[in-house]
Amino acid sequence: MFARFRRNRMHAALRDMLCETHLRVDDFIYPLFVRSGEKIKKEIASLPGVFQMSIDEVLKECKELQELGIRSIILFGIPDVKDSIGSEALCEHSIVAQTIRAIKKAYPEMLIVSDLCFCEYTDHGHCGVIDPKTQSVENDITLENLATQAVIHAKAGVDMIAPSGMMDGMISAIRSGLDSEGFINLPIMSYSTKFASSYYGPFRDVAESAPSFGDRRTYQMNPANRKEAIRESIEDEMQGADILMVKPTLAYLDIVRDIKETTLLPLAVYNVSGEYAMLKAAAKAGVIDYEGVMMETLLGMKRAGADIIITYHAKEAAKILNG
Ligand code: PBG
Ligand code: ZN
Repeated sequence: MFARFRRNRMHAALRDMLCETHLRVDDFIYPLFVRSGEKIKKEIASLPGVFQMSIDEVLKECKELQELGIRSIILFGIPDVKDSIGSEALCEHSIVAQTIRAIKKAYPEMLIVSDLCFCEYTDHGHCGVIDPKTQSVENDITLENLATQAVIHAKAGVDMIAPSGMMDGMISAIRSGLDSEGFINLPIMSYSTKFASSYYGPFRDVAESAPSFGDRRTYQMNPANRKEAIRESIEDEMQGADILMVKPTLAYLDIVRDIKETTLLPLAVYNVSGEYAMLKAAAKAGVIDYEGVMMETLLGMKRAGADIIITYHAKEAAKILNG
């Protein structure tokens, strides 16, 4: 006696009926990179299909996204001027605040998420204020600045705040900052378990955010650590995060599953730039069926436990899902 698994695979309709995991366009958040200027749409060599855009071009992009049924974006800003603390992100006319206002006006239905960090805005490229003694990010001063930046995005009309800097206490600090200004219903999606990863390389080209010295290992996690990875997400849940995240995804699908089984909060994954770039490069080299590999990869993330997928593939995947 043995099981005849193939019986349930013989008819296409039955195969579809028994499908356990489904990707939907509503699962995706599409990243957009915005800078000042007009009619700027500059492709990044290491990230084919991803652009730095001025606000007018972002608005055109939103139209295209709407037509594809993509209702959520995450914004990253590239400032004109950088300084030691990232002042551009701390003023009400920051490029991200301007973009939020423009999108809200033209596309009020769009779910706008803002990445909240300082690495794009500091001249040293680190995710907060540097302590001159240790040459590392000063945690608690950075928390105050994160709360300030969050309130600026909130006042501009953002729909969700996504802090990505891996500062200890960032969720409590941002939550109290938002609440004290009356934004009690604004959700926080924490980059709760974020590893110090080589997969972020192409992102740092497009966001112009590579650190000018050292690396991010005093604040982002060691890729070797599973127990700590789970603790990081549990801690952010206790501080009041509304959605948790694992980043990167592909080399960390075990962690996605672990955290999914540890919490009842919704879980996002960030299908990061290096993961996207690898598929693009393999496609260009003619060694893979790009669309097949892309859909299988996204499905794997969902199957591992992701409720939300932040991905540069969102438009390509939506076209396939829309049929
Ligand atoms: C900034 C930030 C990074 C990414 C998202 N937010 C890069 C980093 O930590 O250096 C990476 C995204 C990607 O690689 O696609 N804190
Ligand atoms: Zn950062």
